[in-house]
Amino acid sequence: MTYVTEENLTDVVMKRWQDIDNPRLKQVMQSLIKHVHSFVRDIEPTEAEWAQAIDWLTRTGQISSEKRQEMILFSDVMGVSMLVDSINHRLPTGATPTTVEGPFHIPNSPDIANGGNMAEGAPGIPTYVVGKVRGLDGEPVPGALLDLWQTDGEGLYESQRDTSEPWMRGKFRSQGDGSYALRTVAPIGYTIPMDGPVGELVSSTNISHMRPAHIHFCVEAPGYHRVVTHLFQQGDEYIDSDVVYGVKEPLIVDFKKKSGGKTPTGETLNEPFYVVEYDFVLKKLAKAQAA
Ligand SMILES: [Fe+2]
Repeated sequence: MTYVTEENLTDVVMKRWQDIDNPRLKQVMQSLIKHVHSFVRDIEPTEAEWAQAIDWLTRTGQISSEKRQEMILFSDVMGVSMLVDSINHRLPTGATPTTVEGPFHIPNSPDIANGGNMAEGAPGIPTYVVGKVRGLDGEPVPGALLDLWQTDGEGLYESQRDTSEPWMRGKFRSQGDGSYALRTVAPIGYTIPMDGPVGELVSSTNISHMRPAHIHFCVEAPGYHRVVTHLFQQGDEYIDSDVVYGVKEPLIVDFKKKSGGKTPTGETLNEPFYVVEYDFVLKKLAKAQAA
């Protein structure tokens, strides 16, 4: 038996945690111990600081519920959610990149016909999003499912509104030529929840707690890589400081302002509206994955 010293402790612990049959768990634990010990050796916490860290983690778990996930928020603001997303969706240049799903997606959104309005009665500037779903070789992808969710023009998601009806979300399908069109309202930037331990931590820094205005999309079609992503409004004041690091350059789009008149879906509006044009480009799955 080797008795521990400050110097040999990491090696002793690593050795003990080698006794694991599951090879992946063994790999994870070896790396975790190595990095956690290295972190503690680096910062040399006082006992009071370590107790404070444990208390913060405890409260982060305790405030989490079915409706609120403070742990995910912690992962988000540390950039870890985006790192996991990037590792799992390495797509070629030209394909629409992924970004984090975030906590506001609600399944089973209503089906809305092509050109329909998913923001009926919602505050905000009317916005038409039009484009095509296509493959990397340019082929149209008909019948792709576009599942959208976003804030209304006051920066609130459905879960933040007192509503029993679907709010600011809907499912659309690409047409025979791969095209899609929909009406919504312009989203606006919003703050991450700041009333919990993560907000407390972010507040003790000079880091912005805002996300730039965006529309969430999940686009999927048989035989293609499913893409969970956002489109961000070009020129948003928070575009360079997204608190969850979700912004990728190809996802920044121009919200073209029109003073009124005929819209891309054939309506005529007597008020200003935006037009966003964006083609979703999907990567084909390898045959074995598609089967
Ligand atoms: Fe969002």
